[in-house]
Amino acid sequence: MQIVLCDSADQVGHRAADIIEARLRRGPAVLGLATGGSPSSTYQELIRRHREEDLSFSQVTAFTLDEYAGLAKDHEQSYYSTIRRELVDHVDLPLEQLLTPQGDAADLMAEAARYDAAIAQAGGVDVQILGIGANGHIGFNEPTSSLTSRTRVKTLAGATRADNARYFEEGNVPRLCLTQGLGTIGDAKVAVLVAMGANKASAVQAMVEGPVSAFCPASVLQLHRTAVVILDPAAAGNLSMLDYYREAQKFNDQLGQGQRRGS
Ligand code: PGA
Repeated sequence: MQIVLCDSADQVGHRAADIIEARLRRGPAVLGLATGGSPSSTYQELIRRHREEDLSFSQVTAFTLDEYAGLAKDHEQSYYSTIRRELVDHVDLPLEQLLTPQGDAADLMAEAARYDAAIAQAGGVDVQILGIGANGHIGFNEPTSSLTSRTRVKTLAGATRADNARYFEEGNVPRLCLTQGLGTIGDAKVAVLVAMGANKASAVQAMVEGPVSAFCPASVLQLHRTAVVILDPAAAGNLSMLDYYREAQKFNDQLGQGQRRGS
């Protein structure tokens, strides 16, 4: 695991965008996209680079991590609509290359299996962007998720529903979702997790320095060959080896290839 300590949320976005840009400049790519507040500075920076520095997404196929069950694509809180608002509608990624699980499929389990297979068929994800929930989830893999799980239907934890209640009218927060599994996420060639804010500090500490445990699903990234964790000072606030992470980061930056090394 590489730990990248940043001074601000903007810098977090900048560092994550560097990894994505390096991959896009090498040719056609498959991106895994997270929704939520965490990747917002990353997407803002990618949009700026698209507008000002000719960064093109025309050769990108994108898969979102998850979707609420029961929401049609065109529902304004569906993750399909959200990722369009936050990134896709502002760059040159063709809409037919944006793929999300169909939340209103009649057979959700079949839809989950189809989505997992579609990712594999596209050659797998090259760079997966991730946020982390305050309860340690990635995607919607709530605590106790199998560490080898594939895309499937999950029940949202009460804490997650409370976190996301702000996006829905009272009482309307979905209870079920489709989410890429921890095994599916682990298949991505590079995993980039961004976290900001003190409410993430304890989950970040458990992910980075705790045991690998289904109770902190993000800790599965400890098993990933190339996982990069990019943090603002508040999210890094509970880590115990900050001096070491800083020193390692300095050497990685000097090598100029932090994102291409194993971790
Ligand atoms: P956030 O959510 O990015 O909106 O903080 C992350 C998550 O719950 O996965």
